[in-house]
Amino acid sequence: MSYIRYKNNNLFVENVSVRRLVSKLSTPFYLYSESNIVENYKSFSNNFKKSKPLICFSVKANSNIQILKVLKKMGSGADVVSGGELLKAIKSGIQPSKIVFSGVGKTEEEIRLAIKRNILLINVESENEAILINKIAGNLKKKIAIGIRLNPDINAPTHKKISTGKAEDKFGLSKTSLISFCLNIKKLKNLRLKAISVHIGSQILSENPFKKTLKVLEEIINKTKINFKFVDLGGGFGIAYKKNDRKINLKNYSNLVEKFRQKYNCSIIFEPGRAIVGDAAILVAKVQYLKKGSNKTFAILNAGMNDFMRTALYDAVHNIIPVIKNGKKNNGPLEFVGPICETTCKFIKYNKYQRMNQSDYVAISDVGAYGASLSSNYNTKPLIAEIIINKSKARVIRKKQDIKSLLNQ
Ligand code: LLP
Repeated sequence: MSYIRYKNNNLFVENVSVRRLVSKLSTPFYLYSESNIVENYKSFSNNFKKSKPLICFSVKANSNIQILKVLKKMGSGADVVSGGELLKAIKSGIQPSKIVFSGVGKTEEEIRLAIKRNILLINVESENEAILINKIAGNLKKKIAIGIRLNPDINAPTHKKISTGKAEDKFGLSKTSLISFCLNIKKLKNLRLKAISVHIGSQILSENPFKKTLKVLEEIINKTKINFKFVDLGGGFGIAYKKNDRKINLKNYSNLVEKFRQKYNCSIIFEPGRAIVGDAAILVAKVQYLKKGSNKTFAILNAGMNDFMRTALYDAVHNIIPVIKNGKKNNGPLEFVGPICETTCKFIKYNKYQRMNQSDYVAISDVGAYGASLSSNYNTKPLIAEIIINKSKARVIRKKQDIKSLLNQ
């Protein structure tokens, strides 16, 4: 069920008309549907219900604390990649025993924090990191549960800038290094190897690379004969941004995961980000100016790549839909662009679109994941507001940043 839809040609998020919101609030702003997030979480969890996995929401996809609180209420844990994300997850109420910490460059300070907070696992990405964690744990007189991240050298079909599981990528350890690491881990007296983890990339729309990854994990477990308590299968599940995007078949994969779980008697962890929040938000913006180009019209929005980076960074396709459908035809191609002084600050071009006027409102779709969390102050623009709808209620979950806070740095 979609919570972001038209009623009588007016865009609604749950029971709230976007037209009504823009008459009261200044644009641009992120607008989330809470029910959509809850539904996505439930549907993900139902898909894997036989395996009863621990779902650790990947905080980098959306780190708004109010959204973390919604997910906490659903029982979610967190996958974090920095001390800041770790502290935010804990502040949202997520128990440290449901938090895993990944990332190739954890600092001493971050490691100390993770150890002191007794999180479930630190997912180690190199031998030198393990040596450092062992040393810090020793100083703190603690024994630490770690996972070791595998780089399975699997090519997952996705954008080359968000693939993480190929040999050339910086993440994890190759099969051979990982096996030798496992066999030598006993030397690091303060570490307890509890998990093997893997994450092969993001926005993956085929289940095949996930299946291949399970095979590599089997091979490693069979070779090392280690009884890992946890197998952390990461995130990466794609969503349909474009009409023709394939939907990933999680049912089929989930049967394989369950077989795997039974065979190796382990607990499964997942780290989904995009699948939980991606389609649950729009970015509402105003057409600041219309400008005639030589062979197209530019609709210059008051939101730019500083507010939403995915298009500029990955050539990602995000549809832009009108807040009010007027049914009138436009003459000629229309390109939505932003105000930032970069050619790449553009969103999408349509050959046919409805007739647009200056000051019309539009919504960039599917911006819930890696939208607000990737935004910046580029061009000294304040971060925009975030609003969440629950049924008929709207709540500001981040105020527009005060421009004054940018002026003294
Ligand atoms: N676990 C690890 C270790 C990760 O590195 C990531 C994402 C996830 C889980 C969550 O992946 P998801 O389920 O959301 O695909 N900014 C890019 C995506 C970068 C993903 C980085 N890692 C984008 O906007 O497409």
